[in-house]
Amino acid sequence: SDPLRLGIAGLGTVGAGVVQILRRQGALLQARTGRSLEITAVSARSRSKDRGVALDSYAWEDDPVALAKRDDVDVFVELMGGEDGPAKAATEAAIGLGKHVITANKAMLAMHGQALAEAAEAAGVALKYEAAVAGGIPVIKALGEGLAGNEITRVMGVMNGSCNYILTRMEDAGLPYADVFAEADGLGYLEADPQLDVGGIDAAHKLAILSSLAFGTQVDFGGIELEGIERVSIEDIHAAADMGYKIKLLGVAQMTGRGLEQRMQPCLVPQTSPLGQLEGGTNMIVLEGDAVGQIVLRGPGAGAGPTASAVLSDICDIARGVRGPVFGQAASGLRAAKPALSQRA
Ligand code: NAP
Ligand code: HSE
Repeated sequence: SDPLRLGIAGLGTVGAGVVQILRRQGALLQARTGRSLEITAVSARSRSKDRGVALDSYAWEDDPVALAKRDDVDVFVELMGGEDGPAKAATEAAIGLGKHVITANKAMLAMHGQALAEAAEAAGVALKYEAAVAGGIPVIKALGEGLAGNEITRVMGVMNGSCNYILTRMEDAGLPYADVFAEADGLGYLEADPQLDVGGIDAAHKLAILSSLAFGTQVDFGGIELEGIERVSIEDIHAAADMGYKIKLLGVAQMTGRGLEQRMQPCLVPQTSPLGQLEGGTNMIVLEGDAVGQIVLRGPGAGAGPTASAVLSDICDIARGVRGPVFGQAASGLRAAKPALSQRA
C-alpha cells in the first residue's frame, strides 16, 4: 500500500524524538502497520539549529501552515506547542484540507479542543492526541478504547511531573518551596513559563481533556476548580507527614447529580497509597469504571522518548486506519452530551 506521508511541525524535545524513532524503527513500524511511514517535510523556527538528528532528506518549510498545506503531507504532526498562534492556525489548515492531525499540545486542546474536534469530525479526519496527556502513559487509548464498555465514574491522578518532583523533593530534603523551585528550574524541569506547571495550569489542561473523553462532555477548562502548589509550605508537608499523608497536586473529575465536577488542587493522600508513593517526575492516572472497577496507570509523563512514544502510537493508528477516540461531545451528537457544570444556566 501507499506510504503514509508525515509533515512534522516542531523539532524540539518531542519533535526530534519522533524523527529519531521513525528513523531508527522504520522497518519495525512498517511491519506492524503494513505501511511505510515517511517524513516528507518538517518545520521549526531555526533551520540551522543542530537537533541531533539528520534532517537533510526532508523538505523544509519555515511556515508550519505551509507545511500543513503541502500536497505531499497526509498527516500533519503538530509538536510546536502554544494555545493559539501557528499551532492552531496550522492545525485548522490541515483539517480544512482533509488531513489527519496528531498533536501533543494540551494547551491548544484544552482551550480549542471542542471546535477542532468538531471540524475534524466534519472533515472526516482523525484528531489524535495521545501525547497530550501524561506523556508516555497510553491513557487516551485506555480510556477511549480499552474501557469503552464502561461508564466511567471517576478519573483522577497526578498529571504534572514537575510539581510532583517539587513536592517530593521538599519532603525528602526538608527544603522550602522557593529553594526547590529554583533547583527544578535550574535543572530544566519546568516549562518556559513555570507558572504553567506550579500554577496547576498544565495539569488542568490535561484533566480537561481526560474528563471530556471520560464523561462525554465538552472540553471545559474554565470549569476546573484550580489551585497550584505555590502556597504549599514545608510546614504543610511536615504536618501532613506527621498524620501519615503526603501532599500531591491531584486532579479529580467525576460526574455528580449537579453535572461534571473537576478539581486540580494540592491534596492529602495516604503515604502508603499508590498515589502517596509516587516519586519524582512520574505521573499516575487512576481510572474507575462501573464494570472494570479501578485501573492504575503509572509512568513517565514527559521527556523526548516517552512523549515521542505516544506520538508514534497515534501515527501507527492512522497508518492502520484506526481513528481512535475523539473528544466527548462530537458535533454529530452521537455521544452523550451531558453539560459540564459550568455550562449550566
Ligand atoms: P520545544 O522543545 O520547545 O520545541 C518546540 C518546537 O517548535 C521547536 O522546534 C521550535 O522551533 C518549534 N516552533 C515553535 N514555534 C514555531 C513556529 N512559529 N514555527 C515553526 N516552528 C516553531 O517543545 P516540546 O517540549 O518539544 O513540546 C512540544 C509540544 O509537546 C508542546 O505542545 C508540549 O506541551 C507538548 N508536550 C511536551 C512534553 C515534553 O516532555 N517536552 C510532554 C508532553 C507534551 P526551534 O527549535 O527552531 O525553536
Ligand atoms: N511540564 C510538564 C510536566 C511536561 O512537568 O509534567 C509534560 O507535560
